[in-house]
Amino acid sequence: MSANPLQAYIRPITIGNLTLSNNMILAPLAGVTDLAFRILCKEQGAGLVVSEMISAKGVHYGGNGSIELARTDLREAPLCVQIFGSEPDLLAEAAKRFQDEGAPMIDINMGCPMRKITGNGEGSALLQQPKLIEKIVRTVKSNVDIPVTVKMRKGFVSGTETAVECALAAEAGGADWVTVHGRFRDEYYTGVSDLNCIRRVKEALRIPVIGNGDIVDTKTALRMFQETDCDGIMIGRGALGNPWIFRELSGFANAPTLAEKKAMILRHLDLVMTFKGETLGVPEMRKHVAWYLKGLRGAAKVRDAVCRSGKQQEIISILEEYFKEIEVSQ
Ligand SMILES: Cc1cc2nc3c(=O)[nH]c(=O)nc-3n(C[C@H](O)[C@H](O)[C@H](O)COP(=O)(O)O)c2cc1C
Repeated sequence: MSANPLQAYIRPITIGNLTLSNNMILAPLAGVTDLAFRILCKEQGAGLVVSEMISAKGVHYGGNGSIELARTDLREAPLCVQIFGSEPDLLAEAAKRFQDEGAPMIDINMGCPMRKITGNGEGSALLQQPKLIEKIVRTVKSNVDIPVTVKMRKGFVSGTETAVECALAAEAGGADWVTVHGRFRDEYYTGVSDLNCIRRVKEALRIPVIGNGDIVDTKTALRMFQETDCDGIMIGRGALGNPWIFRELSGFANAPTLAEKKAMILRHLDLVMTFKGETLGVPEMRKHVAWYLKGLRGAAKVRDAVCRSGKQQEIISILEEYFKEIEVSQ
């Protein structure tokens, strides 16, 4: 018997021609899960990482920003590229383009609640159209040879759960797995992720189901597996400022030391500078620093100083100084 019951659930998972080292997945988080952050989560034990959502229309009309969002390197392989849209042909074209550029896996976003997305019939708006879901997945699948997955919510409007019907439609279209976040679109991120909904989807499908929503530690990860019988878990906000969550769930329960925290922030900063440069990277790094320092003594002052700074070297000095002080006062 394993000392930690979660260990019985963390295991390799096969999808199409890919075998992932484990079934813990870093969720796509627009504006957060860029290449730098994904590398750090992968190093801490994530079995799979997913790109930020990328517009199929953006790919079609040639925006470089769209392609740049799927920039990857071997340290995070395999990267699942997430696309969004509502037109089967455009989604299929984007999927093929990413496959040709080397993507080993595609996920289709059917969960985004933002008005600017749903207003175009994209993201979670698709949860009102199971027939279109099936057509989208079938069209994308027939255009690529790599696994294609779908990420969805409980339904579009509170009280009208369409997850089972939509997941069955995705399965009929040929999806290789479905991820379910147990909230309605109009709940955004309030309330709790409904594990019963995820279990209903799991019971209805033959393909694997990934459970998502509110996993922040070993206890919540275990509850997701036990109450839904899901095949894998996806973690989003629980990884903010905490890439170690994957290490924790892998059974290495030790919380990061201050020295590890400092090293992680500096490495994160370094990776962001390498991939995005100072002008773009420093503003992006501010929120990460705030997340890393959450709960630490004197964090607010450092956060403010980092927010006023536009230079990598300045941020390094602020952090060096802070960690020196806090270590001495331990
Ligand atoms: C800031 C932010 C950005 C997100 N971006 C995406 C996205 O690009 N694609 C997607 O499918 N879901 C996106 N989500 C939803 C998450 O992937 C996930 O389903 C949700 O946060 C619930 O999981 P959690 O409780 O582990 O965070 C986003 C969520 C947040 C908070």
